Amino acid sequence: MTTTKATNITWHHSQVARKDREEILQQRGCTIWLTGLPSSGKSTTAYALEHQLIQRGYLAYVLDGDNIRHGLNNNLGFSAEDRQENIRRIGEVSKLMADCGVITITSFISPYEREREFARTLHKTHGLGFVEVYVHASLATCEKRDPKGLYKKARAGQLKNFTGIDDPYEIPLHPDLVAETERYSPEELACKIIQYLLKLRYLQSEDRRSDLNKAWTLYTASLAAR
Ligand SMILES: Nc1ncnc2c1ncn2[C@@H]1O[C@H](COP(=O)(O)OP(=O)(O)O)[C@@H](O)[C@H]1O
Ligand SMILES: [Mg+2]
Repeated sequence: MTTTKATNITWHHSQVARKDREEILQQRGCTIWLTGLPSSGKSTTAYALEHQLIQRGYLAYVLDGDNIRHGLNNNLGFSAEDRQENIRRIGEVSKLMADCGVITITSFISPYEREREFARTLHKTHGLGFVEVYVHASLATCEKRDPKGLYKKARAGQLKNFTGIDDPYEIPLHPDLVAETERYSPEELACKIIQYLLKLRYLQSEDRRSDLNKAWTLYTASLAAR
C-alpha cells in the first residue's frame, strides 16, 4: 500500500509469545472490523459491543474513526490517499492490539475493499482472528439520521469527498456478518456479534464476570492473609 522507506531495520524477537498474554487475559485477541456508510451506526454498535464485552468480563477496546482522527490520524484528510493511509494505520494498530490479546473493535467507514482486504490479510498472516461486519442502513436512512448534519452539508456542496454522496463506498462482498441497524437495536446487534464470537471460540463462555470476581476475591484474600 505504501512504499517502505525504513532501511537497516532488524526484527527483535520477544521472549514472550502471544499465548502467554492470552493466558493472563483468558481470552483470544482478535479484531472486529465495522465498516459502513456515515451514520449507518458503526460507532453506536461498536461501543454497545465494547460495553457488553466488558460487562461479561472481557477486555475490549474501540478504535473509532472520529476519535482516532483527533490524535494519531489528525494529519490525514479525506482524499483517497489519506483515507488509504488512515485505514492502513488502523489495520496495523488493530493488529498490534489484537496481538496484545485485546478484543479490538474498529469503527471506520473504510470505504475501499482493497484496504479492508489489507487489514484482513495482515491479521490472517499473523494468525489473528478478523471479523468483518458490514453495518448496514440504506443511504436514505443514513441521510435521514444524519446526527452531525454532514449529509446536509455534502448535499449543499459545503463538504467535499463525502462517502455516499460524492465519494464511493464499496459494499463488502463477503462480510462475516451484516449488522442491520434499521431492524435491530445496538444492544441486539452487539449480542449477535458476541454469539458469533462464541461460535468461533474467540470468547470462552457466555459470562466470565462471576469467575473473575471469584478469582479476584480469592487473590485479595490471599494477600490479606500474608
Ligand atoms: N441499531 C440502531 N438502531 C437505530 N438507530 C441507530 C442504530 N445504530 C445507530 N443509530 C443511530 O444512527 C445515528 C448514527 O449512528 P453512528 O453510530 O454515529 O453512525 P456512524 O458511526 O456509522 O457514523 C445515530 O443517531 C444513532 O443513534
Ligand atoms: Mg462514527
